[in-house]
Amino acid sequence: KCPPASLLFIFGGSGDLNQRKLSPALYNLFIDNWMPEKFHIVGIGRTAYSDDSFRKHLHDGIQQFSRRKDDQNGKWQEFSKNLTYLQMDAGNEADYQKIADIVKQKEQEFGEHPNVIFYMSVAPHLVPQIASKLGALNICHDTKCTRIVVEKPFGHDLKSAHELNGLLTSMFDETQIYRIDHYLGKETVQNILALRFANALFEPIWNRNYIDHIQITAAETVGLENRGDYYERSGALRDMVQNHILQLLCMIAMEAPVSFDANEIRNKKVDVLNAIRKYSKEEVHKYAVRGQYSDGWMQGKKVPGYRNEGKVNPGSPTDTFAAVKFYIDNWRWQDVPFYVRTGKRLHEKSTIITIQFKPAPNYAFPQEAALTWRPNRLTISIQPEMDIRLRFQAKRPGQTVTLNPVDMIFNYKDTYGDDDPEAYETLLLDVMEGNATLFMRSDQVEAAWKVVMPIQEAWETRPPVDFPNYAPDSWGPEDAEALIARDGRNWITLPAAHQGVQA
Ligand code: BG6
Repeated sequence: KCPPASLLFIFGGSGDLNQRKLSPALYNLFIDNWMPEKFHIVGIGRTAYSDDSFRKHLHDGIQQFSRRKDDQNGKWQEFSKNLTYLQMDAGNEADYQKIADIVKQKEQEFGEHPNVIFYMSVAPHLVPQIASKLGALNICHDTKCTRIVVEKPFGHDLKSAHELNGLLTSMFDETQIYRIDHYLGKETVQNILALRFANALFEPIWNRNYIDHIQITAAETVGLENRGDYYERSGALRDMVQNHILQLLCMIAMEAPVSFDANEIRNKKVDVLNAIRKYSKEEVHKYAVRGQYSDGWMQGKKVPGYRNEGKVNPGSPTDTFAAVKFYIDNWRWQDVPFYVRTGKRLHEKSTIITIQFKPAPNYAFPQEAALTWRPNRLTISIQPEMDIRLRFQAKRPGQTVTLNPVDMIFNYKDTYGDDDPEAYETLLLDVMEGNATLFMRSDQVEAAWKVVMPIQEAWETRPPVDFPNYAPDSWGPEDAEALIARDGRNWITLPAAHQGVQA
C-alpha cells in the first residue's frame, strides 16, 4: 500500500492550467478533507516567482476560478504553507538534481517515503524530454509510489502517440503513468456506468434490437481563446473526437465489466475502440464532415473568424468543427449508427448524449392520436445542464385519445445540490490514491488514434475548398445536417432534447 503522504511536482506550475484548474482542485480537496495529512506541492516553471508571489498568483486563481473561495477561516493560509515554487529550466539536466534534493528533504520531514507525483502541465513537445530526465534521476525506483501524470494531447497522430508511449514506458511502468482525459472525471460521465450497470432496467434493451441510433454532441460557444499555436496543429477531430468524444462513446457502448478494477474497465473500452469500423480514405467523405467558423456575431458581439484569430495561418485548413458517423462492428451494435459532432463557436455550450429507441412495433391507438407519436429517447446531459431524461408517450387528460411525449427527469441539482466536485478534483485524488480506472492506458490511446487517423489523413490529402463554411452562433456547416438527414434523422439539440413535444 502506498504511503498517504504526497509530494506533487507540477511542471508548468506558472501556467494557465495550474492557476485555473489544478491548484483550485487541490485547494477544494484540502477544504473537503481529502488531501493526505502530509503533502507538499511544488510548482515548477521558468518564470521568476518567489514562494510568496507564486502563492499570490495561485490565490488569485482560486478567488477567480475555484468553487470554494478563500473565505474558509484561514484554510488558504494553512494550505499555502505546503506550496512552494522551483524556478528551473526543464531542458537543463543539472537542474533536476534540485528535484531529487526536495524529494530527500520531504522524505525526512514526513518521516516516510511519500507518493512522488510529476504532473506534466506543459506543451506536448516538452513531455518526452522532461520524462526522460526524470527517468534518469533514479528516484523512480519505487514503482508503486512514483507517478507521472500526462495531459493530452497524447501524440499528434498514431505514430507519435506510439513513440511517446514507448518513451514513457521505457522510463516508467505502465501502472505509474496517468494519462488524463478530464471528461472522465466529470460526475455526469462517471454516472453513465452507474446508470447502465447498477440498474437492471436498461441493459436488456441496450442493444441493436431496441436502439435506433445514438448521438453525442459536444458543442462549445468559445472560439480559440488564444490557443492558436496549439490548435493550428490540432483541429476539432484531434482536440475533441480522438479523446473526449470517443471516451464518451466507449462508456455508452462497452460491455458490462465484471469488476471496477482499472484494467477491467479499460479492457472493455479498448474492445469498443477496436470494433469501431475503420473507413478507407476513399469513403471518409461519406461518414465525416469538417467545418471552420467564419467572421460573425455571437450574442450581439462581433467575433473574428478562425482564420483571423491570433497565431492562425490566414489560409488555414484546420477544422474547428467535426461530425462523424461511426459504426461499431460487434454483436451488440451492428448497424446502429453513432453520430458524433463537436465544434467551436456553436450556438450553445452543451454536451449531451441521446439514445434514441426504435418505435413501438404496433400502435393500436386511433389514427388521430398518432399525430404526436415520438420514439422513446434517453437523454444524458453531461454539461452545463446535468440531468438524465427519459421520454415516453403519455395520454393527455381528456375525452379524446391524444398521445404526446413527456419526460421523466433526474436532475442532479434538485437531487444532490450543486456542490459536486470538479473533474480535476476527482482525477487528482485518484492519482494520489493510485487508482487508474479513469485514466487512459497506452493501448487505449493508440486504439483511439487508429479510429481517427483515416479521417485525418483523408482530410490532409484533400484540403478543404469551402472553408470557412459555418457562421458563429450556428450549429456548424450544412454538410453536417446532410450527414444525418440522409438517414432520415436529425441532430438533437438541448432545447429539443428537453422538450418532449419536439421532434
Ligand atoms: C479540451 C480541449 O481538452 O477540452 C479544448 O483542448 C476544449 O479545446 C475543452 O475547449 C472542453 O472542455 P470542457 O470541459 O469545457 O467541455
